[in-house]
Amino acid sequence: MENSSNTKVLITGALGQIGSELSIALGNRYGSDNVIASDIRDDTEGRLSGNGIFMHLDVLSFEEIETVLAKYGITVIYHLAAMLSAVAEKDPQRAWKINMGGLYNVLEAVRKHGCSIFFPSSIGAFGLGTLLDGTPQDAVMRPSSMYGVTKVSGELLCDYYHGRYGVDTRGVRYPGIISNGAMPGGGTTDYAVEIFYAAIREKRYTCFLEKDTSLDMMYMPDAIKAAIDLMEADPNRLHHRNAFNVSAMHFTPEDLAAEIKKHIPDFEMDYNVDPIRQKIADSWPNYMDDSTARREWGWKPVYTIESMTEDMLRILRKRYDEGLL
Ligand code: SER
Repeated sequence: MENSSNTKVLITGALGQIGSELSIALGNRYGSDNVIASDIRDDTEGRLSGNGIFMHLDVLSFEEIETVLAKYGITVIYHLAAMLSAVAEKDPQRAWKINMGGLYNVLEAVRKHGCSIFFPSSIGAFGLGTLLDGTPQDAVMRPSSMYGVTKVSGELLCDYYHGRYGVDTRGVRYPGIISNGAMPGGGTTDYAVEIFYAAIREKRYTCFLEKDTSLDMMYMPDAIKAAIDLMEADPNRLHHRNAFNVSAMHFTPEDLAAEIKKHIPDFEMDYNVDPIRQKIADSWPNYMDDSTARREWGWKPVYTIESMTEDMLRILRKRYDEGLL
């Protein structure tokens, strides 16, 4: 997909952590009239109000998806509607239905309508048996969580639709995403978001992962950049299509607390470990090797743990001072 004025975008899961910020970024890039943000929930907080078209869409309804594609002449879908790892583990049957059923419907619709599709996979697609330090692009993938099973299956399904039908499928494996807009909805890496809110509000945080659990992480502006850069990349340069490892920073809860303490010296953290999320985190990469994305489409993150922490605290502090947090 090239960046052109004919681009018409549909985002599913647009009220989620990534969707809410990606919808606005895409509206700024292609014009808000060319971006349809959709979600199964209502935009009760007005997150996307004033930013183009927002509509209700259930990705489990193939008919609803097709109707939107036809009505708006959609050329590219960012398919973000999915359940994250911790909530998926609580209800694996529902997670399979939404994560796989939704993706299947979207792929079938884009096959018929000739659109491109962005599918976000995750560090969660890896599992035990994977090299966890510098996880290669092409690695052993035996996830033990239902979330991971749906992510690796989703990668394969996207590869299949590209190989079998020539659908323009593209995607990345995101690390944990840190942001200050919509909260993540029940993931294993959520501590790295919650900690900032708690640091500003209470100067203390109880972490649900052990202090030395290293995980791959990324700040939202880089996550948005990864999605858009990949969808605008020259297809002739792409030897891989889906599931590019993208990495930006990695740290443990203890590292992040130390970084926050540089700005808030009396910040304190203690631990109350959640065994389910700890088990998931222990099976995920400490950091991925993203040299393939760098080579094939020029991936390069901007934010480090230092600049991300500074930015998060600055934004949340301002909101707190204005009585908005
Ligand atoms: N942030 C996600 C989760 O924790 C990982 O992709 O579920």
